Amino acid sequence: MKSLNIIKNFIRNNNNSNSIRFFSSNINIVVNSRGIKYIYNEINKKLKNSNNRQISEGSELESRVLISHVLDIDSSAITLFSKKNQHRFLTNEEYSRLQELVNRRLLNEPISYLIGYRYFWKHKFHCDRSTLIPRPDSETIVEKILEEKNKNNLKFDRVLDLGTGTGCLLLSILYELDGSFGVGIDKSKESLLLANKNAKELELKDRVCFLNSDWNHQESLVKELGQFKPFDLVISNPPYISIDEYKELNETVKDWEPTTALIADENGLKDYRNIGLLLKNNKELLSNNAQVVFEIGKGQENDIIEIMESCGFKFTDSKKDLSSIIRCLVFTRNKENENK
Ligand SMILES: C[S@@+](CC[C@H](N)C(=O)[O-])C[C@H]1O[C@@H](n2cnc3c(N)ncnc32)[C@H](O)[C@@H]1O
Repeated sequence: MKSLNIIKNFIRNNNNSNSIRFFSSNINIVVNSRGIKYIYNEINKKLKNSNNRQISEGSELESRVLISHVLDIDSSAITLFSKKNQHRFLTNEEYSRLQELVNRRLLNEPISYLIGYRYFWKHKFHCDRSTLIPRPDSETIVEKILEEKNKNNLKFDRVLDLGTGTGCLLLSILYELDGSFGVGIDKSKESLLLANKNAKELELKDRVCFLNSDWNHQESLVKELGQFKPFDLVISNPPYISIDEYKELNETVKDWEPTTALIADENGLKDYRNIGLLLKNNKELLSNNAQVVFEIGKGQENDIIEIMESCGFKFTDSKKDLSSIIRCLVFTRNKENENK
């Protein structure tokens, strides 16, 4: 009798056109097809059938992330499929929003653009089509800078980030360095809207300034940076993908993320060369023992060390990412070499 009442209540609360009818001996049971587990199975199946390997292989996690986003709850399997949520049903509006997101994902749109953010280091960063989505590999740069600071007892009071995008690198570093001030530049105006929004949410607005500028326009950039110099630390994750590598990228990246954040001429090295020249020609931007820390692409280390040494910097260290690829190079201002 108790279970019959549960079923009746269930039917009363969830009577909509998306219900499925089951007939047992003498009870007509209606099972709502908007339950979380049911919806999860439905969209997981759709994503699993995608031709894009990245989508099909990540279908379980992505299904959870999309449902959680629409329902505004935590995406861990424990929470999503918890007892508390097992009686939760999607409304018509939630269901159609979810279907729209799944359809967009099947057109290869990155999941971070669909939900509007990506976790990086210790925080959530807003992202959109104006710039690169923060990558876990880039956390190697944050780790390395903290290692350098602690190992050599350094103070990075002023930090310059060339190509700041969402601000994920600069803001994560400022968060870790008590009291430091940062300047982030980017040639994409739209990306700076994101960076400012992220700074505000991390309560770092008073410790950062974002400038719409271009490292290829040395004169105006140096003028703009004048009021903030000298910098103790320069960081950059510039575009470093060669045209040939770009052709091989997954559609999720190639069709959606801006080429201005990805591709660099000269086999991916052009922006390192231009940044090296900017710093070589404008040493007054740097404090005496300033460090320059780059994120680099797979196998680019020797070329970039050569470029930076020819610009008067001393290569001091490197760090591998979680896939054991050298991802980060550290250079120090080499005053002895500067007048050569
Ligand atoms: C690879 S993304 C890095 C974004 C962010 N720092 C990160 O690590 O996720 C490179 C960024 O550099 C910017 N950029 C590319 N060329 C530039 C230039 N010549 N001057 C200034 N910014 C540039 C792009 O707009 C993009 O936001």
